[in-house]
Amino acid sequence: MTKLLITYYSSYGHMFEMAKAARNAAEENEDYEVKLRKIPELEAAREAMSGQDAYQVAQEAQSDVEEVTLADLDWADGIVWGIPTRFGNMPAQVKQFIDTAGGLWAEGKLEDKATGIMSSSNTLHGGQESTILSSMLPLLHFGMIFVGSTYGQNPELSKDNMHGGSPYGPSTVAGSDGSKVPTEDDLNVAGRLAKRVARVAAGIKSTQ
Ligand SMILES: Cc1cc2nc3c(=O)[nH]c(=O)nc-3n(C[C@H](O)[C@H](O)[C@H](O)COP(=O)(O)O)c2cc1C
Repeated sequence: MTKLLITYYSSYGHMFEMAKAARNAAEENEDYEVKLRKIPELEAAREAMSGQDAYQVAQEAQSDVEEVTLADLDWADGIVWGIPTRFGNMPAQVKQFIDTAGGLWAEGKLEDKATGIMSSSNTLHGGQESTILSSMLPLLHFGMIFVGSTYGQNPELSKDNMHGGSPYGPSTVAGSDGSKVPTEDDLNVAGRLAKRVARVAAGIKSTQ
């Protein structure tokens, strides 16, 4: 079995939807064992956002999802990350979690795992691509092998009206007030990244 971890942070549910699409697509292959895990919320963020209905609804919707642990990172052959934009960069929640993985890094436990990143932003050019690219940096320090989304496998990326998705990875645009939901195209690209990461992970595993 190829073990695929899909881990994400989501304040308002967009990354959660993309992560579920990634999970569902990967689970179509019975050779893949898939875990969906959320990155823990920070108390300061909970305090800042808990007055917002959209935040409350989205957190309630994710209440059954287990929180990711370092053991999940160690377990996986491949990891798909769902990382929404914060000022063009990863949220503190994700950085906080990644910064606890120093022990795994020191032991080389994350080396040669396949990985890919999905993102979201409120505005079209608000930082989906910069978030994916800058989030690659710690993953490359970990020794992971980065997997993007190909134009060949994702005809959606070449559509003139496509808002999310790029060669760097799947993404979605939440809208300036956050009221948009991921489109079918966005979800399809997310699903294909999960399958591609799992395929690459399986290939690497077969050579080890
Ligand atoms: C502190 C903060 C900073 C943000 N910075 C940006 C930004 O730079 N560009 C942008 O388009 N959206 C920005 N957003 C909007 C988020 O990217 C958006 O809410 C998120 O992608 C939605 O995904 P989620 O529903 O999974 O949380 C920001 C949101 C917050 C709370």
